[in-house]
Order: sequence, then structure tokens, then C-alpha cells
Amino acid sequence: MSSSADSISDGELEDIYRFAIQLGRDAGQMLLDGLQRRRSLGAEGMPEAQVEKLNAVDIVTQTDHDVEAFIHKSIRERYPTHEFVGEETYSAGATRDYLVTDRPTWIVDPLDGTVNYTHGFPMFCVSIALCVDQRPVVGVIYAPLLQQLFSARRGGGAWLNESTSLPLLGGGIGPLPREAPRKCLFGCEWGKDRRDPETGEGNLGRKIESFVTMAMEPRGKGERGGMVHGVRSLGSATMDLAYTAMGAFDIWWEGGCWEWDVAAGICLLQEAGGLVTTANPPVNWEERWGPGQGVPEISLGGRLYLCIRPAVDAVDGSETGRQSQERVVREVWKRVKRLDYSRPGVEVS
Ligand code: IPD
Ligand code: CA
Repeated sequence: MSSSADSISDGELEDIYRFAIQLGRDAGQMLLDGLQRRRSLGAEGMPEAQVEKLNAVDIVTQTDHDVEAFIHKSIRERYPTHEFVGEETYSAGATRDYLVTDRPTWIVDPLDGTVNYTHGFPMFCVSIALCVDQRPVVGVIYAPLLQQLFSARRGGGAWLNESTSLPLLGGGIGPLPREAPRKCLFGCEWGKDRRDPETGEGNLGRKIESFVTMAMEPRGKGERGGMVHGVRSLGSATMDLAYTAMGAFDIWWEGGCWEWDVAAGICLLQEAGGLVTTANPPVNWEERWGPGQGVPEISLGGRLYLCIRPAVDAVDGSETGRQSQERVVREVWKRVKRLDYSRPGVEVS
């Protein structure tokens, strides 16, 4: 029996890709219009002040809802047989199960970086992906204030602003540093789990300790200091991933986000030649995932992601780009704490 992926021809995929790009542009314009309204009305008269979901940093605006409704309607009209998972529709439901099946499924975040949006900080975007057989085959990310449109389709490459005059994402990005994580730019997110680290609960303390180890001078932390060039949080997991695909981040390490935050970005990253695996060092990883043994595959809904930028082979032929990416994965696992994000029905390493 043929898989769902086989049932979508390259021609159809190209149509879907073009449709997704236009949808991303239209949704981006809605985000800009919403931002304009927020600015002109000021906090007082704002009809769309944010609402808190899980806690005071997990917020949603009316624009998130409006953009998701627009995208959902457009997809339903054009592809009535396709499934849809959108952040706001999902959040309104009771289940926290992973709902993506092998069927063609659109995975959408209408606004990633909502906190940035409410502050007018430009790192926010819409994220639209189509998954088939659990794999993202089309990904579109549009950051309208930055006028950056990232797009990819399976087998068609990854692009910035659909333009050949701007760099093809991933193409021509040099080898990863021999001394990695030294000389690397490390992307991460503080996330929404803000439980007091003093209590020993929650992920905030584990993240901070990991950031510090990655940043610290090499002799620190029992010779584990990573001495990365810098630690950066864009405030949008989706933009972090797009920037990793572009090679602006060498490493992105994150736990706690969801499939709508990463589906389009993973499509982009993989098309550009990047690597994705789990953020948590697997138990006994030195034995199971040592040099030459690859890295574990992850589920899109696993909530733990470690991504490495595209890389070319070493000039002296000593290492392929892929080998260097796996080497960097192991260097990160040596230095980070295991995070605690569980999900019904999803096996997390
Ligand atoms: C969040 C952002 C944030 C990440 C969270 C996401 P939202 O998405 O991407 O950077 O740390 O895990 O949920 O709420 O802005 O769409
Ligand atoms: Ca969102």
C-alpha cells in the first residue's frame, strides 16, 4: 500500500507550497494590521488586550484567534480533506495528546512570539506547515515586521524571500568549528515554565544552569564550560529555527514548545541540510550514540529539540558536514541538563 506521502505528487506539492506562501503573506498582513491597531489605540482603548492562558507569560491576543480562523477557513475551502492542528484551536480543547496522524495535516501557529508582538519587538511570525506521514513537507514562516519570508518544500530547497539574490538557506554555510561549542552562537528560550528553581521543580533552573555551562570558560564546571560566542533568545521558537536553518545560529536547544512552533521550521532546517534531534541527552548516550552511531530521530510532538545548522564538509576531507553536526550534538549533550516535558502518547527520550 502506498503511503500518504506518495499520494501527493510533486506538482500538487508545488501548488500547496505556493498556496501556503500566499497564506503566510496574507496572515502576516493581518498581524501588521493588528499591531497598528494596538499602537494607535494605546493600552487603554485596546479592544484586544492579551488574555493569560497557563500563567502571566503565556498570553493570547484577539489577533492570534483572528489569524488562526482566517488560515483555517482558507485551508478548509481549498483542501477540505486535509486535517488541521492550530495552536489556538488545540489550546481551547481539553486534550494535550499529540493529534497528528499520517494523513495530510496542516500545523499552524497564527502568531509565534506573542509576547514580542505585544511589546512591538519585531521577532514574531506566522508559521504554516503541511505534514504528511508525520513529516513536514511544506513550511512557511513569515515575519512581517522584518519582511522575512522563509519557505521550503520537500525536495525544493529552502529559501529566504523566495529570491535567488538572497542566500539560499543553508547553501554555502561553512564547516562547523572544530572547537565547538566554542565559536558557536547558541540559541535557546527561557520558556513559559517559571517555577521557582529553589524548589527543585520545573524547568527554569535546569535551563539556566545549561545556559551558564554553555557560556562558561572551558575550565569551569569540571572542564565542561562551553565558551560559546554568545547565548541568544529571540522570544520565538519558530524564528530561532528559521535562523538556525539560515546559519545565523549554529545550535538551537529548546524544550517546552509544541508542534506548531517547530513544524515549518523543521521543514526549513531539513531542506537546508540542518540536523534535528532531542534536547535531552539520552540515558547512556555515550554508549548508544557515540561517534559514527548517528543521533536519535524525534517525534514532532516530543517538545524537546536540538537543532544544528547546515554545514559543509571539512576542507581537508577529515569530516563530513553530517559528522560535524553529530559531533556538535554530543558536545551539547555533555553540557545540558535533562528537561522535564512529558506528553500523553509521545515517547520522549
Ligand atoms: C512560544 C514562543 C516562545 C517559546 C514557547 C512558545 P507563542 O510560542 O515560541 O519563544 O519559548 O515555548 O510556546 O506562545 O509565542 O506562540
Ligand atoms: Ca502562538
